[in-house]
Amino acid sequence: MYKNVIVVGAGGHAKVIADIVRKSGDNLIGFLDDHKEPGSAFFDGFILGDTESYGEYPDAQFIIAIGNNAIRETISKKMGDVSFYTAIHPTAVIGEGVTIGEGSAVMANAVINADAAIGAHCIINTASVVEHDGKLASFVHVSPGAALAGTVSLGERAHIGIGAKIIQNLEICADVLVGAGGVVTTSITEPGTYVGVPVRKVK
Ligand SMILES: CC(C)(COP(=O)(O)OP(=O)(O)OC[C@H]1O[C@@H](n2cnc3c(N)ncnc32)[C@H](O)[C@@H]1OP(=O)(O)O)[C@@H](O)C(=O)NCCC(=O)NCCS
Repeated sequence: MYKNVIVVGAGGHAKVIADIVRKSGDNLIGFLDDHKEPGSAFFDGFILGDTESYGEYPDAQFIIAIGNNAIRETISKKMGDVSFYTAIHPTAVIGEGVTIGEGSAVMANAVINADAAIGAHCIINTASVVEHDGKLASFVHVSPGAALAGTVSLGERAHIGIGAKIIQNLEICADVLVGAGGVVTTSITEPGTYVGVPVRKVK
């Protein structure tokens, strides 16, 4: 039985999510967005209303398609106990024993290997890799082409930039941003922005 899905947000990331909804055989009802005119066309659907209007759709499932981790968290908490949709692209490879929290998205060609645990409202972006036994807290974003070796853990709202790499068995605390192409070789215990090979803290 297909699901009726509303995508929250109407930017580039929302297009990718809408595409996954369709490719999964589910029914895209439309988009909620605070900055676009209700009734206007967007991508392959329509803007239904602003993000406050989710209550008008009690039978729908929702997915928050906003790349900013903190905004995704705020909106998900405001929406409370609605039913959240988990989007998994048909080409994603999901290993045995993997768990994926509600509202998370796994994009095309991503690989999540055995016994990894992904929190709620995470983004496992295009062609990224979460190796075996990874533990990702909620509201995390692993950007396109980023790779986490085995048994890496990420705290809430961690953002691993495009093409970044993290070697095995490391723990990265909450609110860490690893810049594009960064290589993480030791655990990170302080929130902030880390760039370079190996990464150093810049903010
Ligand atoms: C790390 C990042 C957030 C920094 O952005 P910012 O706060 O605007 O910082 P700035 O661009 O002012 O850069 C600060 C310094 O870090 C350097 N820097 C920025 N990003 C870097 C990176 N990825 N690797 C190496 N150095 C980097 C800059 O050259 C600059 O150095 P300088 O002070 O010697 O001139 C950003 O560059 C980045 O890599 N974002 C990831 C984007 C991404 O993965 N998007 C995917 C979305 S799906």
